[in-house]
Amino acid sequence: MKEKAMLGARHLLAWHECSDTEWERMVHDAVDEYHGRLRAPRLHRRHIGLVFFNPSLRTLTSMEVAANRLGASSSTIIPGRGTWDFEWRQGVVMDGDRAEHIHEAIGVLSRYYDALGVRAFASGTDYASDRDETRFKAILAAATVPVINLESAFYHPCQALADAATLHEHFSGAQQGKRFVLAWAFHPKALPMAVPNSALLMAARMGMQVTIARPEGFELDAGVMARARQYAAARGQSVTETTDLSAAAADADVIYTKAWGSALAYESREQETMLRQRLRQWRVTAVLMARTNAAAFMHCLPVRRNVVVDDAVIDSPNAIHLLQAEFRLHAQVAILARILG
Ligand code: CP
Repeated sequence: MKEKAMLGARHLLAWHECSDTEWERMVHDAVDEYHGRLRAPRLHRRHIGLVFFNPSLRTLTSMEVAANRLGASSSTIIPGRGTWDFEWRQGVVMDGDRAEHIHEAIGVLSRYYDALGVRAFASGTDYASDRDETRFKAILAAATVPVINLESAFYHPCQALADAATLHEHFSGAQQGKRFVLAWAFHPKALPMAVPNSALLMAARMGMQVTIARPEGFELDAGVMARARQYAAARGQSVTETTDLSAAAADADVIYTKAWGSALAYESREQETMLRQRLRQWRVTAVLMARTNAAAFMHCLPVRRNVVVDDAVIDSPNAIHLLQAEFRLHAQVAILARILG
């Protein structure tokens, strides 16, 4: 696996594009920011544009606060709400509802802002295109300033850095070798894979012993799995998979739960829905948590209570999801400081 220095290109698409040294430095910067000891540069007179093609609570607000904390200004752009609708397709005759092409939109915004953050989820219809990050790469191609991925088709690097820093804080830096279970959960809809992909890569790169508990048909992408296994092997650990959630929970130190859709959804939404309807028992319960090694419960949020996780778990002292959400802010301060500092 060839790694290049992060921010050599100055964009942040996914952490696997940066070296281990850069990744570890970013984790430490986020932890230092949490403890109020990050010596971050002032970003006075810097302006950050935040483009959200999809909804957000945490990412949107924490990016605004992070920019403000560093002395920069930010503005949030929601395409189609107060702006023109943007066209993504190349070579298309634009005689429909979409009045502005992403190429011009991002090109224009690049002339106003010093950096852009962009959230553009998976298409959900073209797996190869989503895996190749075609949409996000179109943004990068049009941008002339650094772009931060605020969740794309396959990766959510801001979440991953926050999760890594949360684990570092929770285990006081001794997370190496701890048992991390990425637990699939039922959800009424097929959700994107950006968070589970990023959580898997993050935990493996943090040197944790990773188990993915998921039903048949909900395998993560083979390329992401291979990269995670490489990270784990380089740290003397492994990544295993099981369809037995209860067995996976035994002696776990972290239960990180997340719903995601089957790759089947790309081919047949109906078939995927039928498959998931039989999987409602995939939920984090107090009984499951009792099997663990007093595991920390993590979730990126938003979460559906009593569908994904029971009240008894998320309201328990073992739930660190709010600390995890707080770390979104600290992680993004660290990211903005590195990219614009
Ligand atoms: N975890 C996360 O990205 O939350 P939002 O979708 O609310 O930004």
